[in-house]
Amino acid sequence: MSTRSETHTIRARRVRFEWDGTPLHWIPGDPQTTHTINVLHLLLPAGEKWFVEVYRQALPLIDDPRLRDAVRGFMGQEAMHSRAHASVLDHLAAQGLDATPYTKHVDRLFEHLLGDRPMGLPLPRFAARRWLEARLAIIAAIEHFTAVLGNWVIDSPALDDAGADPVMLDLLRWHGAEEVEHRSVAFDLFQHISGSYWRRVLAMVQVVTVLSMLWVQGTRFFMRHDPTHPGKATWLRFIRARRRRRLPTTRSMARSVPRYLRRDYHPSREGSTEQALAYLAASPAARAAAA
Ligand SMILES: [Fe+2]
Ligand SMILES: [Fe+2]
Repeated sequence: MSTRSETHTIRARRVRFEWDGTPLHWIPGDPQTTHTINVLHLLLPAGEKWFVEVYRQALPLIDDPRLRDAVRGFMGQEAMHSRAHASVLDHLAAQGLDATPYTKHVDRLFEHLLGDRPMGLPLPRFAARRWLEARLAIIAAIEHFTAVLGNWVIDSPALDDAGADPVMLDLLRWHGAEEVEHRSVAFDLFQHISGSYWRRVLAMVQVVTVLSMLWVQGTRFFMRHDPTHPGKATWLRFIRARRRRRLPTTRSMARSVPRYLRRDYHPSREGSTEQALAYLAASPAARAAAA
């Protein structure tokens, strides 16, 4: 067992966001980058709800009280993230961009492929335990990326320079900061319940493949259904956005994969809890929740 959860207590902040003043293209004049980041709102409502459902099954298997507390805090935060991103989908729909055809596809992925009965098949007890371990490995791999992206977004001045909507930036940075805050929990839980190195490698390969595909499809979906008809998503615009630092660079994302595959990897070395907490102390939504 290797539990290195930090001494910091993780708990959900009951935030609320008012979307009335947020334009459809919340990065002005840059619909493609807006929609590339908007893919988070397509994936996270179903994805983070699924994390919580899987973790509910893992809770009784945890015999370390500190890790159990951290997992409970993590579940509270992820449930709140899921709700906050879902509220953006309602706002997009009110502006004429209904994402339901895509989110139905994402819901099916989490419910049917990654649910308790993959493809509707009931699992015998032994296989159910292995399937739980496989899903914990997938969540740990996803949480590696949420920590990397969270660390990027809390320090992404190019988005401020581009005039990005402050409410959307606060949502992304509040979420990113909490991802950095709880970045060790999913990995520690996976190590506690399974710890298999090869399961970790396999999950990372699966997550990179599926996430990349969903991201490309999601961006194309938004561009195709955008009521202002900004044109098709193009690789050229994507590369330009990365060069302008409105998105994380390809190099920084690619380099994060071999880091995760190191045998001595631990998420505590990704990002800084102090920097995350400093953002949360300044975040308008988090401050309102604390008040
Ligand atoms: Fe999250
Ligand atoms: Fe997370």
